[in-house]
Amino acid sequence: MGSIKQHYSTLLLLLVIAIAASFLNAGEAFPLSSHFYGHSCPRALDIVRSVVARAVDREPRMAASLLRLHFHDCFVKGCDASLLLDSNGPIASEKGSKANKNSARGFEVIDEIKAALETECPGTVSCADILALAARDSTVLAGGPDWEVALGRRDSLDASLSGSNNNIPAPNNTLQAIVTKFKLQGLDIVDLVALSGGHTIGLSRCTSFRQRLYDGHTDSLEEGYAWQLRSRCPPSGGDDNLFPLDLVSPARFDNSYYKNLVAGKGLLNSDQVLFTRSPETSALVRLYADDGGLFFDHFAKAMIKMGNISPLTGDHGEIRKNCRRIN
Ligand code: HEM
Repeated sequence: MGSIKQHYSTLLLLLVIAIAASFLNAGEAFPLSSHFYGHSCPRALDIVRSVVARAVDREPRMAASLLRLHFHDCFVKGCDASLLLDSNGPIASEKGSKANKNSARGFEVIDEIKAALETECPGTVSCADILALAARDSTVLAGGPDWEVALGRRDSLDASLSGSNNNIPAPNNTLQAIVTKFKLQGLDIVDLVALSGGHTIGLSRCTSFRQRLYDGHTDSLEEGYAWQLRSRCPPSGGDDNLFPLDLVSPARFDNSYYKNLVAGKGLLNSDQVLFTRSPETSALVRLYADDGGLFFDHFAKAMIKMGNISPLTGDHGEIRKNCRRIN
């Protein structure tokens, strides 16, 4: 009798363990946490910050480039560093997509951060977390808001070139298309307008805004600004000529991006439509143009939300040794 009881309690225990394990594997049991490397790599955050600071010191634009990398990573299969993989065997790199080709930059800085972290604590800090931290540090270095970065993302075992082509909004997308692409990632209108404020820093190539200069629909473009742009971006040639996304303070993270939109001086069509195509988004543009503190607050919240898009946790994915290839 005693042994039957024992048998049942062992079975019950095994059942409880199995149920617990299945929850753990589902991923929800591993929420991201800002203390994730507290024991395994206590200096991780300092190391990321110092390499980013050196890189931005060498070239201020790098802050913008690193911020953008996190966005382009998270919109494709979640924040899993799929963006960083080079083409190899069955992997077709996302770096070759419409949004990234000849445009996404900063990969060498990510390599530099990863190399420093591998020396400090090998096989511990994921490339996906490096992207999230570098985006935050870049924002702060450029004068923007600070936030606590939740950590514990793991790195993907593959990339999605088609996901990169389809999910990342293009500068000539309609506002409706952009809203839909954000919705698919669980991001709402407030997130969209706040995150677009990332265009307060950085540069764009002529090829990303030429169309709107010559398509006859220049009504929303301030005349003097249009002339300035046309001189830098002729009807043909000069594809790679660069122009600041925020002409007022291109290297400073502030709310002048929104003031520019109100003045008809948004660089990309996708920027200007936030002010011209919907009462809801234009109200937010006005709000952020008037209140830089509110913009900072909403930007930080939206970055945290974006950084939470479908992370790999638990035993999913891996911690890459080199961000450019799977182990
Ligand atoms: C809303 C939809 C968005 C569209 C259509 C868009 C499009 C673009 C385009 C076309 C460029 C210029 C690329 C080039 O010509 O090389 C650019 C640059 C940039 N984007 Fe976006 N973007 C969007 C949202 C975002 C978000 C959410 C962030 C970050 C929170 C962001 C951050 C940046 C930064 C910082 C740059 C400058 C990068 C550099 O100078 O290297 N963008 N974006």
